[in-house]
Amino acid sequence: MSLRIVLLGPPGAGKGTHAKILSERHSIPHISTGDLLRSQIQKGTALGKRAKSFIDSGKLVPDELVVEMVSERLQSDDVRNGFILDGFPRTVEQAESLEAFLKQARKPLDFALEFGTSERVVIDRLSGRRACPNCGANYHIRNIPPKREGICDVCGSSLVQRKDDTPETIRKRLEVYQKQTAPLIEFYGTRNLLKVVNGDLEIEPLQAELARELQVR
Ligand code: AP5
Repeated sequence: MSLRIVLLGPPGAGKGTHAKILSERHSIPHISTGDLLRSQIQKGTALGKRAKSFIDSGKLVPDELVVEMVSERLQSDDVRNGFILDGFPRTVEQAESLEAFLKQARKPLDFALEFGTSERVVIDRLSGRRACPNCGANYHIRNIPPKREGICDVCGSSLVQRKDDTPETIRKRLEVYQKQTAPLIEFYGTRNLLKVVNGDLEIEPLQAELARELQVR
């Protein structure tokens, strides 16, 4: 069965963490625009060079760059049976582009899942997050610690704190979310595509809530 969903929610809501689990469970790709952009930066591509200063300062990368990158990704073979979009769309313009793209492909979205998460929880999660620069695995110093402190369980690389996880940039990202991304809740609500889950829950109870929501389609 195919499944096409987008995940909405503030930075640190757990979109990436839960998208990885859902991706394995439903055998569909997890497409994270944050990961795609960070990989472009690491490779030193023209897109990466343009995106870097926006990401480091907590601002959004311009719509046209992100829309082109996602449209290319959505034409890959592995999205035949669906996808989980994490971090896209993030503006009404991006949502309209996605809607037009999927309409043309005759593959409409099944729904948008909003991770309703309080500011206190997201600040705690982002300040404790540690990421593997090599394989992309994510940890939290308290909630999801690696087996050996500072070392990735998957590939043994040293874990790092993301540059945009500093208190000042976290504040900026939350402000940008409220202003530019939160309007998408209404965008998908008026199309009867919105489902809301409690993003403050720990991982297992939230996975149980997601499983229930994904059954009711
Ligand atoms: P992106 O990488 O998408 O960052 P984000 O949306 O700010 O989201 P995060 O990755 O910070 O959080 P998350 O919700 O995935 O949480 P996570 O699962 O890691 O984007 C980065 C930047 O790229 C943007 O600022 C922008 O510049 C640019 N960009 C990206 N997409 C763009 C677009 N479409 N347009 C324009 N620009 C774009 O969890 C956080 C922590 O909490 C982890 O440590 C995790 O272990 C822990 N945790 C997660 N869930 C739980 C739980 N339920 N219980 C306990 N701990 C948990």
